Amino acid sequence: MKTILPGAPWLIAHRSMLGIDNPHKVSLNGQDYVLWQNSQGEVFALNNICPHMQASLSDGWICHERNTITCPFHALEFDGQGRLHQSGKTGVQPLTPPLALIVRGDCIWTYGGLSTKIPVPDLIENLSHGMTFLGVAGEKSIRGTFLNNLLIGYDYNHPMGTHRKLFGIKANRIPVFEQEGYWVKVVQELDRNDATFNDIRRHPALLFVPKSYTGTLEYAFPALATFRTRFPPGKILQVHVLYPETETRTKTFVLVYAKFNHPIFNTLLQRSMLNAVTTVVEQDTQVIENSYPRQPAKIRLPHEEIMFHAQKLYREW
Ligand code: FES
Ligand SMILES: [Fe+2]
Repeated sequence: MKTILPGAPWLIAHRSMLGIDNPHKVSLNGQDYVLWQNSQGEVFALNNICPHMQASLSDGWICHERNTITCPFHALEFDGQGRLHQSGKTGVQPLTPPLALIVRGDCIWTYGGLSTKIPVPDLIENLSHGMTFLGVAGEKSIRGTFLNNLLIGYDYNHPMGTHRKLFGIKANRIPVFEQEGYWVKVVQELDRNDATFNDIRRHPALLFVPKSYTGTLEYAFPALATFRTRFPPGKILQVHVLYPETETRTKTFVLVYAKFNHPIFNTLLQRSMLNAVTTVVEQDTQVIENSYPRQPAKIRLPHEEIMFHAQKLYREW
């Protein structure tokens, strides 16, 4: 396949998604890898294809003592550098290539083995400083191109349709749109309809979302779209992560952080927050998966220049 955005840094996992001594499969730009984290917090990644008879290493298991992954087919063992480990000895050469990772805090980044075009962004560290990590929500492999998945994050009209059920947005203003290189910042003001009883029952966090509120979006193209807002219980930050699995599948997950005014809100709202974010991702997924191939649009809506800016960064990469 054609590599999408070669040289871009991709955030392929958060530590909390890996567990300990658990093989975790990641597909990036048409290549499968197996990742695991040991109990010391070290993270390893290998090409997922067993060099013996091409079984999927991620279906195997991790040996805690030797820090190796065992292939599920004939039980050959490989260490974190992809070297064969047999009868107490480790081979010299990797037989399955390791994938170079960059670990920033709890975030695992990679260039997919390609040379670096732009640095790993520090947006997450900067924005989440002093906040509590609530969890990962909306982890999904979406049938849709990377570009279509990317653009919905820069599309300020889609909440009116796609997310009408959750937020009931009736007006949307964009007082700020700034950009510099691969960084974009947008301030969005939203007016909501009253939430229905049913909405509140399903998403109690809606009770705390005011009728008009301001959100700030910051992007680190192409991997991250962040959204943060203040509401009576405190502030919340969502980091929407995207990477291309193949030319037609895109992976997403959302890191959710909060800083509540009182610890009780953590207990009360954590699950509801994560569920609401998962619903948002499901709504986006549905519209992306059910749309027809893109054609030149015959209608223009307000604020679409933000989406066209992202499209230009993609096309001119
Ligand atoms: S295919 Fe992996 S050990 Fe044989
Ligand atoms: Fe959306």
